[in-house]
Amino acid sequence: MISDTTRRSSKGEIEDLIRARYSLIWVTSPEETRVEESLKKLCVEREMRLEVWSITEGFKTIANGTGQRDVKDPMKALDHVLRGEGRALYVLRDFHPFLKEPAVVRRLRDAATELRKTKKSLIILSPLSKFPPELEKSISSIVDWDLPNRQEVEAAARKLLPNAPPATQQLVESDPTYMENVVEAALGLTLVEAENVFAKAMVRTHTFDLETILEEKKQIIRKSGLLEYYEHREEFSDVGGMDILKDWLVKRRNAFSSRARDFGLPLPKGILLIGVPGTGKSLTAKAVGALWQMPLLRLDVGKVFAGLVGSSEENIRTVIKTAEAVAPAILWIDELEKGFSGTGSSGQTDGGTTSRVFGSFITWLQEKTTPVFVIATANNVHQLPPELLRKGRFDEIFFCDLPDREDRRQIIDIHIRKKRRDPSQFDLEKLMEATVDYSGAEIAQAVVAALYDAFDTGNDLSSEGLLNTLREIVPLAITMREQIDSMREWARTRARLASSRRQQAKAPGGGWMARYGASKGGLGDKAGENTPDDGERKLEL
Ligand SMILES: Nc1ncnc2c1ncn2[C@@H]1O[C@H](COP(=O)(O)OP(=O)(O)O)[C@@H](O)[C@H]1O
Ligand SMILES: [Mg+2]
Repeated sequence: MISDTTRRSSKGEIEDLIRARYSLIWVTSPEETRVEESLKKLCVEREMRLEVWSITEGFKTIANGTGQRDVKDPMKALDHVLRGEGRALYVLRDFHPFLKEPAVVRRLRDAATELRKTKKSLIILSPLSKFPPELEKSISSIVDWDLPNRQEVEAAARKLLPNAPPATQQLVESDPTYMENVVEAALGLTLVEAENVFAKAMVRTHTFDLETILEEKKQIIRKSGLLEYYEHREEFSDVGGMDILKDWLVKRRNAFSSRARDFGLPLPKGILLIGVPGTGKSLTAKAVGALWQMPLLRLDVGKVFAGLVGSSEENIRTVIKTAEAVAPAILWIDELEKGFSGTGSSGQTDGGTTSRVFGSFITWLQEKTTPVFVIATANNVHQLPPELLRKGRFDEIFFCDLPDREDRRQIIDIHIRKKRRDPSQFDLEKLMEATVDYSGAEIAQAVVAALYDAFDTGNDLSSEGLLNTLREIVPLAITMREQIDSMREWARTRARLASSRRQQAKAPGGGWMARYGASKGGLGDKAGENTPDDGERKLEL
C-alpha cells in the first residue's frame, strides 16, 4: 500500500481562499469542465451561487440558482459581478485574451478591491497563467488545478465497464489489484485523456490492457515536450561499485509505503549525484526505478528554459503537477547544470527568470508532501547555484568518483556478463590493473570495442583482447584532470562519497600515463590507485 498524499486538494485550496476573502483568484487548468464540476460542488456545500461566464453565452448560474444573463461584453461582465447580490462565486472562462485591453485590466483591478468588501469572489479560469504585470498585485492567488486523483480516474474506468465483456467485468470484481493497476497506469493524465485511453484499450483488447494504457500515457507525457516516461531497462544489479549510494537506496525501497509513515519515517525528498562523467550517475537514476518499482519521469531541464514549449514558469509547474499526479514516482533530472548554462538563461540575461523558476523548484523540493522522489545528476558542480546545494534541499549529495579497484572489478564483471561471457574465464586482476583512471563508461566502451575486434578476427572475447583495447582508449580523466581534482576538492567537505573505498585511497600509483603515456602521472597518483592492495580496504564478507 502506498501512502496517500497529504496535500490539500485544489477544491480545498479554493475553499480556504474564499473563506479568507480572496477576491480575485487565477485558476490554471486545461480541464474546464472538471474544474467547474468541483467548484459547483463547493458552492453547493457552502451555499454560494455559482455563475459562469463565457464570451459566447454571457453568465449562466449553475449552482444555487438558475438563469442566464446576456452580458457577453467583458466590461459589462465585470459590472455584472460588481452588482451581484449575496454570496457568490463568479468564473470567467478564457478571459486572458481580454487582458490585452488596458480598460479591462483597470476595471478588473478595481473589481478586485471592491469585491474584498463583499461575499463574492471572482475566478479567472484559463489553461495558461498569462496576465499583464499590472494585474500581478491584484490577483490574490494562482491555483494550479490538480490532475485527477485515483478516485476520479477509477470512476472514469468504471464508466466503461458496462461495455466490457463479462470476463473483464468479472476480473474487475474478483481482483481488486487489477483496477488499482489500471488506475495507476493512467495517473498523470487529464480526465479526458484517461477516458480516451481506457476507451482505446477497451476497443483494442476488450480489457483495460495495461500495455495500451501505459503506451498512450508515454505518448501523452512526451507530447508535453518536457518529460519522458522512462521504461525500466536497467536493473539495479547493473550498477557496479558505489556501495554507499546503493545501500542508501536499498534501505529506502519501502520508504514510500504507509507502513513507513506509520513507523515515523519522513518521506525521502531526493538526492543529487554529482561527479566525474561516465561513472554511472544516469545509470543509477534509471536503475532506481526498477529497484523501487516506481515510474520514472525524466525531465529535460534544457527544454524548461529553451522557450520552445511555453514559458519556463509554466513549464516547471506542468512538470511538478504531472509528477505529483503520477506519484509515487521518481523525477529524474539529468544534467541539472544544463538548466543554468546556454544562452539567454543565466540570471543576468533573462530578467531573473532562471532564478525565479529555480526558486520555485527549490521551494517545492523542500516543502513537497507528495511522494515524488527527485534524483538529480550533474557533471559540473561549479555551474550549480549554491542555494541548491544548501542543507534541507536534498536528503543527500553524493559524489561519484572514478571507480577504485573493487568497484572496477564489479564493473568489468557486469559488462562481461552483459555480453554473455563468463567473467571467471578472464584475468580480472590484470584487467583491474589496466583500468586505473577509467570510468565505468570507458570500461563498458572497451568491452564493446574488444567484442568487435574479436568478431572481426574470428576469435572470442578475451583478456588479451580487452587489454589491447584498453591501451587504445585514453581515459577522459587524463584530459579532465584539473576539473576532476577541483570537483574532488569541492566534494570533500560538501558531499558524501558514493563508494566507501575511495575514502581509504591514499598511496601513490602510476595511472594511465605511467602505464601507457608520458612521464606525468595520472589521476591515480592522487587517489591512491594502482596499488594491488591498499591494506585498509573494508572487505565485503
Ligand atoms: N558504476 C557503473 N557500473 C556499471 N556500468 C557503468 C557504471 N558507470 C558507468 N557505466 C556504464 O557506462 C554507461 C554510461 O554511464 P552514465 O550512467 O551515463 O554516466 P554518467 O551519467 O555518470 O555520466 C552506463 O550506461 C554503463 O553502461
Ligand atoms: Mg549522465
